[in-house]
Amino acid sequence: SVETATTVGQLREKVAQWRRDGARIALTPTMGALHDGHLSLVRLAQQHADKVIVSIFVNPKQFGPNEDFSRYPRTLPEDLALLETVGADLAWTPDVAAMYPDGFATSISIGGPAQAGLDDAHRPGHFDGVATVVAKLLLQIGADVAVFGEKDYQQLQVINQLARDLNIPVEIIGAPTRREADGLALSSRNRYLSPEDRAVAPAIARVLSVCAERLRTGAATAPVMADGVKTLESEGFKVDYLVARHAVTLAEVNSIADGPLRLLVAARLGTTRLIDNIGV
Ligand code: PAJ
Repeated sequence: SVETATTVGQLREKVAQWRRDGARIALTPTMGALHDGHLSLVRLAQQHADKVIVSIFVNPKQFGPNEDFSRYPRTLPEDLALLETVGADLAWTPDVAAMYPDGFATSISIGGPAQAGLDDAHRPGHFDGVATVVAKLLLQIGADVAVFGEKDYQQLQVINQLARDLNIPVEIIGAPTRREADGLALSSRNRYLSPEDRAVAPAIARVLSVCAERLRTGAATAPVMADGVKTLESEGFKVDYLVARHAVTLAEVNSIADGPLRLLVAARLGTTRLIDNIGV
């Protein structure tokens, strides 16, 4: 399977060797439990760089105390085999002590799109944890390019903000969401769904599409999104949010006249929390 580095020293040695050869280096950060969505990011990264590093690290700092850190799926041998099949050049697989050694005491506190009242409102501290680990990953490698999925749309805007604010010399690329045939966005958490919930889950993508169609005709956002919430609730979802926002700033919007829109949703089926989004 693919070559791995497990210490910052090993990682830096590999990167230095590639740098001497003049290679352009891409990073695709992940938490493992890889699926086709992740692999599509690796393929996109390969189009923008000579060498692609995939990090696999379940980052404790981005999970809340009542979230699924301990039960998050960990499938490293399968992940490494998948990365081999797509031709990734290196898997960066630090353990928690390699990433956050004893005495680690720095955290990035991020606003803007990280305080939009979306996932940040339901996951306190989550985006500070994401920003901290992504800043570390980008600096450990000195990546020229980094690829993130639109699946986690608020996260993508948060990373753009982070790179801009800290002058991190990296190009951030967003990749389209990969979906199952019935529209359900691929996610490492889909495996938690019971067969019954799995059958209901594609309603999220359907509701997004219906709302987007209505907004494209110029309809006001509030009633359209309220209808969407009702539909999801009638299907058995607990809706954390289903909103229309400005596609870049994530600011609130009244209609398509306010600029390019993005519809974002987070909803729970049983104990599984699903997120998705679509452009208008
Ligand atoms: P993770 O959830 O493993 O996702 C890794 C990357 O894969 C993210 O950029 C995410 O948006 C992308 N991704 C997930 N599902 C996708 C899909 N169906 N189609 C396309 N891309 C998809 O996001 C994280 O990990 C972490 O927060 C991380 C950025 C690694 C920091 O810890």
